[in-house]
Amino acid sequence: MSFLSARVARARLTASAAATQRVRELRAAGVDIVALTQGEPDFNTPDHIIEAAYRAMHAGQTHYTPVDGTPELKAAIVEKFRRENGIECRPENVSVGAGGKQVLFNALMATLDPGDEVLIPAPSWIAYADLTQFAEGVPIILPTRPEDGFKLRAEDLERAVTKRTKWLMLNSPSNPTGTIYSEAEYRNLAAVLERHPDLWIISDEIYEHIRYDGVSCVSFAAVAPQLAARTLTVNGLSKSFAMTGWRLGYACGAPELIRAMWRMQGQSTLNPSSVSQAAAVAALTGPMDVVEKRCAEFQTRRDFIVPRLEAIRGLRCFSPQGAFYVYVSCEGWLGKRTPEGRVLESDEDVTEYLLSQGISVPSGQGYGLSPYFRVSFASALGNLEEACRRIDAAAQRIM
Ligand SMILES: Cc1ncc(COP(=O)(O)O)c(C=O)c1O
Repeated sequence: MSFLSARVARARLTASAAATQRVRELRAAGVDIVALTQGEPDFNTPDHIIEAAYRAMHAGQTHYTPVDGTPELKAAIVEKFRRENGIECRPENVSVGAGGKQVLFNALMATLDPGDEVLIPAPSWIAYADLTQFAEGVPIILPTRPEDGFKLRAEDLERAVTKRTKWLMLNSPSNPTGTIYSEAEYRNLAAVLERHPDLWIISDEIYEHIRYDGVSCVSFAAVAPQLAARTLTVNGLSKSFAMTGWRLGYACGAPELIRAMWRMQGQSTLNPSSVSQAAAVAALTGPMDVVEKRCAEFQTRRDFIVPRLEAIRGLRCFSPQGAFYVYVSCEGWLGKRTPEGRVLESDEDVTEYLLSQGISVPSGQGYGLSPYFRVSFASALGNLEEACRRIDAAAQRIM
């Protein structure tokens, strides 16, 4: 009999952690790899936020805080939702955790019973399906199409709803495609959701500030206020403010759900770091010019990499409107043979082959829609240039 619980088997090692480990090993063995795997800005946290954290530590904010957030941070979040998202809420609607991921974990753990279904439009961030499974729910993957901008269609949503459906996951701007839902598209989905009163919505808006060409990004709960009471709007500081290491995420939802999430967190980490919470107050109430400047830098990189990838034989790109990823179709490479004589049968084979050519990117399989791979352009232009050169050379070598 194993000493470990059955639960451990449900906690999958994340594909990105495995890929990062692989790159580390190859580099240690002296192999030169350009890794475009990272899901985080390559910039440091803005200075004014770091200084606020330093001041808070000296002022004694080094103790336990209320489990799901200090009153100061909750007030800043309430104001942020009103000002930036058009969502009216109160402190009892707000939960703060150690990252958007913990907030999602709390929400799913607090609501899913074995067999409950979570609708996940694909491709999507890998963690949605993993967290659902960990919480004993069933991820129902809804494939989307590039011709629809990788967005869920109302008719596909309607068809997927069953008596067991508990949540619909929305994520805009999306990881991994960078697609952004318009107000009209959200309204179409809302019309379906109105007919299913037991179905709740998670709207993950963590990339909201990273968007291009002046495209606007709307909050689902603001577009569909009639559904706001059963929408959990999830956000965090990791991406907008380059604060992945601080572990700070938050959400706004029904007080009953927020209290249940508080109980989940109360049995695990207790409060998120007091210092990170003080930093978060500075981030959410402070100037946004650094965020805008960095967004412009991401746009320069997107404009650099998308046409170069498009020009490579056999690849097709979806140009992202937001976030910092390109989802690249490698269908044109399938069936081809590598110089070593291996036939590329799947996107996993393609990313294995690319790794052998010195480029690390995750395959589309983990995101739920193949055959693709994801390229992160949260990396210096020089790296992007070298990666494109290597991918192009890899394309020339297959037949
Ligand atoms: C779509 C999406 N949501 C949420 C998160 C969670 O980020 P964090 O836990 O750092 O707040 C990520 C991180 O990669 C993400 O891509």
